Amino acid sequence: CPALPDGFDFTDPDVYEQRVPLPEFALLRETAPVWWNPQPPGTGGFEDDGYWVVTRHADVKEVSTHPEIYSSNLNTAVIRFADYMKREQIEVQRLIMLNMDPPEHTRVRGIVQRGFTPRAIRALEEALRARATRIVEGAKERGTGDFVTDIAVELPLQAIAELIGVPQEDRARIFDWSNKMVAYDDPEYAITEKVGTDSAAELIGYAMTMAEARKECPAKDIVSRLVAAEGEGNLSSDEFGFFVILLAVAGNETTRNAISHGMHAFLTHPEQWELFKRERPETTAEEIVRWATPVVSFQRTATQDTELGGRKIKAGQRVGLFYSSANNDPEIFDSPEVFDITRDPNPHLGFGGGGPHFCLGKNLAVVEINLIFNAIADALPDISLEGPDPRRLRSAWINGIKELRVNYG
Ligand code: HEM
Repeated sequence: CPALPDGFDFTDPDVYEQRVPLPEFALLRETAPVWWNPQPPGTGGFEDDGYWVVTRHADVKEVSTHPEIYSSNLNTAVIRFADYMKREQIEVQRLIMLNMDPPEHTRVRGIVQRGFTPRAIRALEEALRARATRIVEGAKERGTGDFVTDIAVELPLQAIAELIGVPQEDRARIFDWSNKMVAYDDPEYAITEKVGTDSAAELIGYAMTMAEARKECPAKDIVSRLVAAEGEGNLSSDEFGFFVILLAVAGNETTRNAISHGMHAFLTHPEQWELFKRERPETTAEEIVRWATPVVSFQRTATQDTELGGRKIKAGQRVGLFYSSANNDPEIFDSPEVFDITRDPNPHLGFGGGGPHFCLGKNLAVVEINLIFNAIADALPDISLEGPDPRRLRSAWINGIKELRVNYG
């Protein structure tokens, strides 16, 4: 039995508001790599008796790559929900791809990945480079400020808007809805059930209208390519709506926090910042994602009795994949506690453990991280920390920074 404090929960948002529980993960990896975590009543979505905490890199991969044994649809990906979430609100999340199983998942993924080919991402790069430069120049004029709101928030939102072709005049509204759908655990944002649900509904409505319009008059954009003619090979308008919701959550908060943590890591490891400015290693973005691991965990549900890491898992039990732990597993990474932008190979699981749900936006995220740090190195080479430690996000599954005071130099 690992010596964890009584009642410790690996999805407790109060814990993540202070830190990622890395010492506790290390303890489990060494003593009980697959560990049963009893869960506080009322927080587990459909069920709340508890869930398995999977901490080793090899076991996270094992579960991720066996969707027939570990379902994404029997429960949804997030392990712990805000207390106010009702069963219907969780139920509806099954309509997004992240929470589907084959064959539905295979069909939808086959369609949407047309929008994420290397060619499609390259086509966005010039527009995003110009955005990155503009965002950084804007911050420079301010002299000092909060890196998160000045720089980290904007590019991921612009990237999604660019990807699905949201016109300039609608972007402020889209960004507002997207921001209101995430970070529901943090009281500072005061995102109530109503605000979150209304924003999701408005965003779905907007996306469905967009899909309908493109069906009428197809254009040369991704929406037209995904919805063109209704049928097996395309998305229906409401499927497109749910896909946009997923993008607004999956591509927004994640990349934002990779960028904020990456900046904080550079500012606290000045030799790595000097190295980046000098050599711009291609390995940088992957190390930032390993180091930050913005998605701490997602879960699956066992479809049958099985065994994992020497423990017997029963059909119907939930299995939490702790990417933060896997990314610090010394079996795989030499000195995982070291931030090393030249780390190579770097088989981190920040984008998932492989298998059918592996992050669809990985290539886009890597482009965004590269663009923003190159722009910062060019325009703000002397950026430095100002003020107290960064303020962390209160969340059950996101490793987030909500404020990072800097001097832009
Ligand atoms: C899935 C992480 C950026 C779109 C995922 C998963 C993780 C993840 C852990 C689940 C993998 C699994 O269950 O096996 C991240 C991180 C990002 C990032 C850390 C940034 C650093 C993005 C971006 C987009 C995106 C920019 C799109 C604009 C998606 C989608 C899925 C997904 C659509 C669901 C894929 C599926 O279910 O088949 N991501 N992501 N992500 N991500 Fe990302």
